[in-house]
Amino acid sequence: MEKLTGLKKIKTAVFISGTGSNLKNIIKFSKIKKSPISVDLIVSNTNKAKGLSFADQFNVKKKIFDSKNFKNIEKNILLLLKKEKIKFICLAGFMKILSKHFIKKFDGKIINIHPSLLPKYKGLNTHSRAINNKDKFAGCTVHYVAAKLDSGKIILQKKIKITASDNSASLAKKVLKQEHKLYLAAIMKIFS
Ligand code: GAR
Repeated sequence: MEKLTGLKKIKTAVFISGTGSNLKNIIKFSKIKKSPISVDLIVSNTNKAKGLSFADQFNVKKKIFDSKNFKNIEKNILLLLKKEKIKFICLAGFMKILSKHFIKKFDGKIINIHPSLLPKYKGLNTHSRAINNKDKFAGCTVHYVAAKLDSGKIILQKKIKITASDNSASLAKKVLKQEHKLYLAAIMKIFS
């Protein structure tokens, strides 16, 4: 990843599909002086994403690409990213799989947060799988996005204990709290 030079922040797009708590956290961070990135665009694959409200709240451009055939609209997303001079992409609860072609266009410039200790539990329902398997630990991972799902190089990981009273909802809540810290630490690590 290129090193930070001067005071210019790296123009970043955050892709979401849902609540957007990671998005909100990244936007807030991006506004402080030491942040290497600015959030200039929010992309969602659905107009139902609650996190879209943060676009108005923080005055960030948003664009919804709501289509069943997501692959066909990647071309339009790429055009928009070019127009907005976006150089870096954070996936934050984005539930669509990007094509190889798309990933190649932003090679090494897309990162994702995943709610498990990768390589364990790629894909969905990570917390219930960890609980059903009687794992002692759960956690979250920030990684580069590669063509194979949830398999890119790991940037940072945070491990937390699963307690006897945990269910998937309580675990998700605990992990999400850690995700917020980990995502920012990963961004700082990449650009320092
Ligand atoms: C987060 O837990 C994130 O790790 C997960 O979705 C949630 C989004 O929360 N992402 C994935 O499962 C991606 N495979 P948020 O919308 O509040 O940031």
